[in-house]
Amino acid sequence: MTVETAPNLEQVRAIEEPGVVFVSAGAGTGKTTVIVERFCRAVCDRGLDVDSILVITYTERAAGELRARIRQRLRELGRHDLARELDAGWISTIHGFCHRLLRAHPFEAGIDPRFRVLDESQGRVLRGEAFRTALEEFCGDDPARLRLLAAYGGRRLRRMLTGVHETLRSSGLPLRLEAAGDAGLEPRLEELRAATAELGETELLRFLEGGPGPESLLDLSDLARGDVLAEARQGVERAALEALAARDREQLQELLLGYDRAYRAAKDRESALDFEDLQLLARELLQGSDEIRERESWRFRSIMVDEFQDTNRLQCELIDLLARDDGELFFVGDEFQSIYRFRHADVEVFRERREQVGGVLALTQNYRSRPEVLEVINHLFAGDFGETFQPLSAAGRFPDPAFGPAVELLVTDKDSYKGSGTHWRPAEARHIAARVRELVDSGEAEPGEIVLLFAAGTDARHYEEALRAAGLPTFRATGRDYYHQQQVVDLGRCSSAWRKRLPRDSLQGTRGCSRRSSSATTGWRSRRRR
Ligand SMILES: Nc1ncnc2c1ncn2[C@@H]1O[C@H](COP(=O)(O)OP(=O)(O)O)[C@@H](O)[C@H]1O
Ligand SMILES: [Mg+2]
Repeated sequence: MTVETAPNLEQVRAIEEPGVVFVSAGAGTGKTTVIVERFCRAVCDRGLDVDSILVITYTERAAGELRARIRQRLRELGRHDLARELDAGWISTIHGFCHRLLRAHPFEAGIDPRFRVLDESQGRVLRGEAFRTALEEFCGDDPARLRLLAAYGGRRLRRMLTGVHETLRSSGLPLRLEAAGDAGLEPRLEELRAATAELGETELLRFLEGGPGPESLLDLSDLARGDVLAEARQGVERAALEALAARDREQLQELLLGYDRAYRAAKDRESALDFEDLQLLARELLQGSDEIRERESWRFRSIMVDEFQDTNRLQCELIDLLARDDGELFFVGDEFQSIYRFRHADVEVFRERREQVGGVLALTQNYRSRPEVLEVINHLFAGDFGETFQPLSAAGRFPDPAFGPAVELLVTDKDSYKGSGTHWRPAEARHIAARVRELVDSGEAEPGEIVLLFAAGTDARHYEEALRAAGLPTFRATGRDYYHQQQVVDLGRCSSAWRKRLPRDSLQGTRGCSRRSSSATTGWRSRRRR
């Protein structure tokens, strides 16, 4: 924050308020800026040690940015000495923090000091193996159990039980299948039906309207693709599981525990921990040893949590274990930005804590967007979220004026495409491309100044094709269509042909498929056989 960007009065209050402070504020209002400033004032003015402040944020990337912003600000303040010390500072994700804590106390935590953390794909392989082992053990030759397996299907059973396992562990809950019975399924189905109808996904809609039983609703990932339906789909899958768990509860519970044992044994063999272990073991360590807990909580004079809306119950518990009674605890977040589909975040934790803290500070000046844009956002959000929404006022200064209306709404009437032989999505893509063409032709904007944002990247391909067809250059940053890229398609074909040991001519149609790809597959297979 330089002279011309001095904090506004609300920010000053949030920066200076002592004790337990909760800031609930919208996007671009300076929440992270306040954390940066609190950190710098604590170390520069109050003489706190750099490593006596714990700053937690949600992603590795955000943690990196936060560290860079604090370093930059310390340099601006002429404190190059403190900027250098920042490398040893505790600015990380909660997983990063737990990792560092366990590295410092492996013996007390009962883990191999040389432990490694599984990445996403290594974890997936290990979980798959563990589930197979548990399933074999569980079924044996028992015809009743084999019937159960046939009714659910192995893949579905695996997805649902490994999913429940991960969800329960990430929230620090015991591995117990709760059986709510059938009651929850119908309302969840209704939500998914409504969302599906809105998207015009006819195949899925037909399936849902055919009155499917809970067995066939356990895994809808093949039918309901894409992020837009993810939440409603998972709601149905969970409710279907609950309905079935009520019936087959004992057996599913046994399999869940068997899987847990096999997965644990596999991780032990490799001295590996997964993300959930990091948090669970850190909690155990802090709860199990007063000495360590006291030492760690004495270390931290001040704890600050950015993006608190994405923190779940277990993570909140960890923060509470570290907080000391006379220390400073500072939470900032925005419930309207909760990335609820992100790994087990739980916005309820944010709301509960906000209630507990009582006096909540607001920041209402937005520095990122133009007033014309904020006006529309305030209008829409106030309508949707009611009184809980805090309107934003524009504080940013923009050198160039805005031309024409700042927000323009183009609506696609999906119903009108029904039975026309054209899907609404490519049609919508063409409309957007035509409008972009107009903007470019009239000189209002250049292609490089225009961005298309999607709730999910799954269908970005259609829009890119339409823009290219209109003669507009595109650059696509969304990663969801990874599997449609030529080199990935090629590699996929290579590996599937290799796996099925089909004759070589099945590789026709692949371009640039080298031996390397096959050997990668070989490595993976032998790894699985071990
Ligand atoms: N008082 C201020 N004066 C000028 N710019 C500010 C002020 N406070 C914040 N900003 C700028 O506004 C932008 C958004 O701030 P940030 O702290 O990232 O917001 P949030 O975390 O709430 O999304 C940043 O570019 C920041 O430098
Ligand atoms: Mg921020």
